[in-house]
Amino acid sequence: MGYQLKKKGVVFREMELKDKVSIVTGGASGIGKQIALTYANEGSKVAIIDIKKEEGNKTIEELKKYSDSIFIQADISIVNNIEMAVNKIIKYYGQIDILVNNAGISIRADVDALTEEQWDLINSINLKAAYFFSKEVCKLMKKQNYGRIINIASARSVIADETHLGYSVTKAGLVAMTKSFAVSLAKIPIYVNAISPGYVLTPMTSHNLENPLWMEWLKNRVPLGRFIEMQEVANIALFLASEKSNGITGQNLIIDGGWVISQ
Ligand SMILES: NC(=O)c1ccc[n+]([C@@H]2O[C@H](COP(=O)([O-])OP(=O)(O)OC[C@H]3O[C@@H](n4cnc5c(N)ncnc54)[C@H](O)[C@@H]3O)[C@@H](O)[C@H]2O)c1
Repeated sequence: MGYQLKKKGVVFREMELKDKVSIVTGGASGIGKQIALTYANEGSKVAIIDIKKEEGNKTIEELKKYSDSIFIQADISIVNNIEMAVNKIIKYYGQIDILVNNAGISIRADVDALTEEQWDLINSINLKAAYFFSKEVCKLMKKQNYGRIINIASARSVIADETHLGYSVTKAGLVAMTKSFAVSLAKIPIYVNAISPGYVLTPMTSHNLENPLWMEWLKNRVPLGRFIEMQEVANIALFLASEKSNGITGQNLIIDGGWVISQ
């Protein structure tokens, strides 16, 4: 339990995730990397799983400065790879306390233009992989009588536009899955929650900062008038992984600067 002790004006704080073991899928870059670093900085050992070898190797070097972390390169759209990755992690650490289903892709297409291949691809990474990771990991979490699962969905799970059907459907599915797992695992308790970010400033989206028209749109459309920072998403992922969020399960926490609730 994280708590504060005051002694002669100095605040001592226990690390929020001391001695925990976390898995972050898609942890080589972007939001997943930020969550992995935040967890490691709070005392967790972190296993990142990503398809990108080079980025994964770079990120693991950073993570190792904080904790005994490992990188497993795998394409998680294939269920067999998920089972192998989870087995490797159990063999290495002997425990899994926190799972962050973060890996995700987006495909833009008109509603009547998605191909079968695109449908299967986005589903297999955004939704199917999250299910099979949760299924594999919760077997051990049940034995441990402890666990937290955090699904990175999207503000697009609750709103619609013309070109994100596949993305919105898989992210809405992820939110529905969050609720089913939360209800089924509550007695243990394993806490299961989702985070739905709006526009996050990542290496992939930062080029928009140079696009005045797009930035104008963002300022008009999003009440906070700015991107969400990766660290702001990671802070919520830390809260949901820590004892401070005890009592919260099955929720979808939207962090979007007020985008989806404004007209
Ligand atoms: N960036 C945003 O504005 C935003 C907004 C809402 C939700 N999200 C969600 O946040 C999550 C992270 O997004 P991000 O912006 O950091 O993107 P990103 O592309 O930087 O990170 C996604 C990671 O997932 C990995 N990945 C993709 N397919 C994989 C596969 N088959 N097997 C293993 N790893 C795979 C990628 O290699 C990458 O490292 C995603 O689920 C995304 O949908 C992002």
